[in-house]
Amino acid sequence: MSFDRSIKIAPSILSADFANFGEEIQAIEAQGADWVHVDVMDGHFVPNLTFGPPAVKAFRPHVKTFMDVHLMIAPVDPYIEAYAEAGADMIVAHFEAGPHPHRTLQAIRGTGAKAGIALNPGTPAGAIEYLLDLCDMVLVMSVNPGFGGQKFIHSAVDKVAQVREMIGDREIHIQVDGGVDPATVGPLVAAGADCFVAGSAVFRGGSVQNPGPYGENIRAIRAAAEGALKAA
Ligand code: DX5
Ligand code: ZN
Repeated sequence: MSFDRSIKIAPSILSADFANFGEEIQAIEAQGADWVHVDVMDGHFVPNLTFGPPAVKAFRPHVKTFMDVHLMIAPVDPYIEAYAEAGADMIVAHFEAGPHPHRTLQAIRGTGAKAGIALNPGTPAGAIEYLLDLCDMVLVMSVNPGFGGQKFIHSAVDKVAQVREMIGDREIHIQVDGGVDPATVGPLVAAGADCFVAGSAVFRGGSVQNPGPYGENIRAIRAAAEGALKAA
């Protein structure tokens, strides 16, 4: 995957129909998703439980674009190999998941997967200053992780601008995750983000039987993002 900072929409399957992941993944990709965002939760780092490596392995053959696996788990190091084996194209670990994020990023890169670091809303951008050379992506959380459908935390906009400044001309994506929709995406683009996770804002109103709304929702987010890019 060659690096480009064009707008990418990454629907989170946390908001999909849990009885039809294969069809839901095919539907969002057919409706314009650039990446597929897989939210892994362990009931310890965050108060919710979702997908183990076998589930991610089952998703893999349905993903034709790019499988972005967001590990909201602690400890994270013991599971990196398993999620890479399951087929993750990008593995994102939380800065807050343990005492050695530098080693965690080295371990992710060692599997051959792209490596990302995620920052919770309370963690300052400066925390990752010495990690950037090991990153392919920085994920700025705009909700406290654990659930879809939460309210957007506006301080994420300023943090994106700070991360963009720190990155300089390095080939590192900035992803924002949580409460992203056509109303919140514009300021994030203006601040320098290029990848947008959206769960409820993509899946609302649609279904595997009626995927049209998925496309409308993705196009609405993309139009708002592209509009902000033009205005910047
Ligand atoms: C939250 C997850 C997000 C969430 C996004 O812990 O990391 O990816 O699913 O859902 P929305 O877009 O509905 O806020
Ligand atoms: Zn996520």
